[in-house]
Amino acid sequence: MVEPFDVVDLIRAKRDHGTLSSAQIGWMVDAYTRGYIADEQMSAMAMAIFLNGMERTEIHDLTLAMVASGERLDFAGLTKKTTDKHSTGGVGDKITLPLAPLVASFGVAVPQLSGRGLGHTGGTLDKLESIPGWRASLTPEEFFSQLESVGAVICAAGAKLAPADGKLYALRDITGTVESIPLIASSIMSKKIAEGTAALVLDVKFGSGAFLQDPAIGRQLAETMVRLGTDAGVATVALLTNMNVPLGLAIGNANEVRESVEVLAGGGPADVVELTLALAREMLALAGHPDADVEKALANGSAMDTWRRMIVAQGGDPDAALPTPQHTQVVTAPRSGVLVRQDARPFGIGAWRLGAGRARQEDPVQHAAGIDLHAKPGDTVTAGQPLFTMSTDDDARFERALEAIEGSYEIGDAGTAIQTGGALIQGRITA
Ligand code: URA
Repeated sequence: MVEPFDVVDLIRAKRDHGTLSSAQIGWMVDAYTRGYIADEQMSAMAMAIFLNGMERTEIHDLTLAMVASGERLDFAGLTKKTTDKHSTGGVGDKITLPLAPLVASFGVAVPQLSGRGLGHTGGTLDKLESIPGWRASLTPEEFFSQLESVGAVICAAGAKLAPADGKLYALRDITGTVESIPLIASSIMSKKIAEGTAALVLDVKFGSGAFLQDPAIGRQLAETMVRLGTDAGVATVALLTNMNVPLGLAIGNANEVRESVEVLAGGGPADVVELTLALAREMLALAGHPDADVEKALANGSAMDTWRRMIVAQGGDPDAALPTPQHTQVVTAPRSGVLVRQDARPFGIGAWRLGAGRARQEDPVQHAAGIDLHAKPGDTVTAGQPLFTMSTDDDARFERALEAIEGSYEIGDAGTAIQTGGALIQGRITA
């Protein structure tokens, strides 16, 4: 086969602020997926894109080329409408767990193809795997049948969906090129477009626990992704949400499942409930249920019923005891006052170091490891009161976890400004 382009010319063009054509981008993604373009060449291209950005047309072409690198799912045979959500990732972000069954309890289908955690942000599949018996891998037949019967499915995305992104994301992870709007937007949206959902709500996070710290940059990412989804025929809306403080009180795996079940039982921390309800309303509005009473579905047990059916359908026992840690260590307040700061990222790194996350994709996680917060910014605390509990199966991990968390929270006098970066939901972006 005669290759139509030379990748070095394309790298030079991007390095020198040029614009790549559709044909060039389509070829590049295909040639990289089949191994003709080497990782070192694609690394140089990723860095050129990271440094110089991409035009709107290039981001569009890159996204569609990654979709075309693999399979596309087709939900035309389902009797239910499909609606999905994607979060750009954060600390304590367990929202998918209560959200998918809540939305599905209104008779729509939520095909939630999820990943595992890498770095300081957790993975939905890792959390659910702390439920005894639950399995993340479904055959295509099981997946479609569960969508039709239960409505909610949270399972592993097969390697056949946007494989170019799988390869490129792994490369970005080790070349310092993750935090780039064109690369993040095309990576996320290629998977969602290939997944075939009719509607999509994006939870775009900014702040210390997110990929992008600055809310203005978060907004640009949200706008880019909403445009990509809309152009591809997916009804897409984004909420811009604050990830400066951990979401809820649980950071880990089993403890996040426990907190999600509390939300499904009508309780749970106020921020987790607020975000779950806001995202559910958006997903249901896009699926033709603008007046769905989502609070009622949490209060009357219908979301919980769907959760239980979803867990059972994937082999899990919703009544089984969740794993407990072999060691715990409580950190107490060094003085009385008000908790004025609690940075998400160090707590995410701390939970990860305790064993809740993995350093390499093939590493196992400890399902009982993590952090349980006992106070949130704005709470009054007294000296000696527990601030948070760390859990792990390997007590040698406490020291490094504490090193990560050291200095990331602060107790001030009453009246000191609370540093959370403002409201939880800070914007709504539509096409
Ligand atoms: N999640 C993704 O799937 N891709 C990115 O680039 C960042 C977060």
